[in-house]
Amino acid sequence: MSSPIVTVKTDQERQDLVIIPPTSGVALSGKINVPGDKSISHRSLMLGAIAEGETTIEGLLLGDDPQSTAACFRQMGADISDLSGPTVRVRGLGIGNLQEPNDVLNAGNSGTTLRLMLGLLASQPGRFFAVTGDKSLRSRPMSRVVTPLEQMGAKIWGREAGQLAPLAISGRHLQPIHYHSPVASAQVKSCILLAGLSTEGETSVSEPVLSRDHSERMLRAFGAKIQVDPSCHRVTVTGPATLKGQSVVVPGDISSAAFWLVAAAILPGSDLRVENVGVNPTRTGILEALQQMEADLTLENQREVAGEPVADIRVRSSQLKACEIGGSLIPRLIDEVPILAVAATMAEGTTVIRDAEELRVKESDRLLAMARELGKLGANVSERPDGLEITGGGPLKGETRRKRQRTS
Ligand code: S3P
Repeated sequence: MSSPIVTVKTDQERQDLVIIPPTSGVALSGKINVPGDKSISHRSLMLGAIAEGETTIEGLLLGDDPQSTAACFRQMGADISDLSGPTVRVRGLGIGNLQEPNDVLNAGNSGTTLRLMLGLLASQPGRFFAVTGDKSLRSRPMSRVVTPLEQMGAKIWGREAGQLAPLAISGRHLQPIHYHSPVASAQVKSCILLAGLSTEGETSVSEPVLSRDHSERMLRAFGAKIQVDPSCHRVTVTGPATLKGQSVVVPGDISSAAFWLVAAAILPGSDLRVENVGVNPTRTGILEALQQMEADLTLENQREVAGEPVADIRVRSSQLKACEIGGSLIPRLIDEVPILAVAATMAEGTTVIRDAEELRVKESDRLLAMARELGKLGANVSERPDGLEITGGGPLKGETRRKRQRTS
């Protein structure tokens, strides 16, 4: 890095005040690495826990969400080493052998932990589970996974007719179904595939638009029979399956890289390489959107690591132009819409983001939050029911904002 990007000072008297000076005149150059991919981290812990034998994981994201996944599966008997080591080791129990925990499983803030885990819990015959999460997770829709699981014969109870956590699950033998999900959601798709692992026959799930396919790739690598019909975005798992422990290498998270890519694109004189980033085509919508905005991006050293495409991404600053995005691109950049909105404030013209109403049911309502917070910084942003409209062109101004109190 040529110079420090920001100086962050914490005021001694007021611990909640963080001062970020303007970045004008600062260029980003050099090479950086970003933390491991969160989606792949969750899946490697879960599949490791239900596989036979040992799974080793390198590059796992050491964040609260994977910690929640690890804690839940430890409570059910999986032997998972400390996540802070360079290699995490998981001694799996085998599908169908999760133990009944003697306390509530807490997914914290992590929708992926809760929704994927539900597919496994519902299909553990004879065992009872209670699951919950923090205040945000307890307000997020669970019916999108409870409905298909109930069609498979699952018994799940929860607030508001099973729509909201806390949930109680009485595990049992399930029946295979074909389910067409009304939302393009990798969490829904993965939940059903995980339930299908111990279900006799073919369980399949299709979605209106293709969502991230990390589960399909990893399940296949662990030995499950997975068929994909790309013509209708349909995935089928044949059960009962036996998974065997694997060596997983987690690439850098493109969702984390996105912040650096946008920063370097908009700060004049920047030339930055973000190394070892996962570039699975179901996740690279952010690269396509930035390219539409005439960002100067190049993928270098493209390779495949443990079944996932990986590359180094070089970004040089350029004058961005507004773009219009929507449709099938949205699930491929769903977590990157907020930082794309920041890029749009620096682009010439009006950027329109549509078909992104799913952002309203994430950890927060991300459309509302971006419109409100960018508006406070002087950006010209308006909220649409399904997205945002942002007219770029101005430097943003500073603003004081209280740090969010942690919920739980
Ligand atoms: C994820 C899927 C996406 C994404 C989330 C992680 C996953 O959620 O927003 O951060 O790992 O499967 P949806 O499935 O709700 O779209």
